[in-house]
Amino acid sequence: MHTAIVTGGTKGIGYAVAAAILDTGGRVMITGRTEAGVAAAVDRLARQIDRKAGDSSRVAGRAVDVRDRAEVDAMVAAAVAEFGSVNTLINNAGVGVFADVEQTSDDDWARVIDTNLTGVFYCTRAAIPALRAAKGAWIINIASLAGRNYFAGAAAYCASKAGLVAFSEAVMLEVRNDDIRVSVVMPGSVATEFSGPGATTKDDSWKLTAEDIAQTVVDLLRHPGRSLPSKVEIRPARTK
Ligand SMILES: NC(=O)c1ccc[n+]([C@@H]2O[C@H](COP(=O)([O-])OP(=O)(O)OC[C@H]3O[C@@H](n4cnc5c(N)ncnc54)[C@H](OP(=O)(O)O)[C@@H]3O)[C@@H](O)[C@H]2O)c1
Repeated sequence: MHTAIVTGGTKGIGYAVAAAILDTGGRVMITGRTEAGVAAAVDRLARQIDRKAGDSSRVAGRAVDVRDRAEVDAMVAAAVAEFGSVNTLINNAGVGVFADVEQTSDDDWARVIDTNLTGVFYCTRAAIPALRAAKGAWIINIASLAGRNYFAGAAAYCASKAGLVAFSEAVMLEVRNDDIRVSVVMPGSVATEFSGPGATTKDDSWKLTAEDIAQTVVDLLRHPGRSLPSKVEIRPARTK
């Protein structure tokens, strides 16, 4: 059974990943920045489980800003206390700032790097002892194709995701013999509100869905212990 932490599980890809892990019979702690956002998402997930006659106590939530090391450390301790162990960490929380470098403020730069890269470092470092103790553990990092296919007007975002791909591969090599598998998922365009509210009102029918990424994550978690797909690129089948 997966006992998972999913960072940024209040909406979008993280929410879909949490729902998919719950569907496998696992237990999930989701996080987000606000108590209200986390409580609303936990409530929706619990009702979803209830409809399928499951045990809604399998889902928990905690307001955690991944940029805050103390909050992250407390989150891991709380998840271990709640589930008895944590064997799966999904580093999904992320933000995008899409602006030319000249128009990128110090705050915007820091928000992107601190969330998308330093936040993953904090969560990974905090979770490794619990993951090592759990045996057969996973860390799955949600990066982006922007971490390989760079584009103008997104220097901070591309840098954060390229850094995350490098971080993921280095950590994979570091902990693979501790029975912790690390994989980085690099999605192309996904129909979520990532680019701001209203972003999903455009014709998004050609894009991937959050559920497509959740499927990828659950497929990874199903791999037999001997195999490790350490990097997955997933893109819409068509461009429009
Ligand atoms: N959408 C795409 O096209 C796309 C493509 C490739 C990769 N990705 C990546 O996929 C991940 C999820 O994106 P999404 O599209 O699902 O975006 P989203 O709908 O905006 O969701 C982002 C999630 O991250 C959480 N979050 C943001 N900053 C946080 C922080 N400092 N601490 C804790 N949680 C934080 C948000 O929670 P609250 O708002 O409740 O705090 C929310 O749950 C991101 O890493 C993104 O870079 C997205």
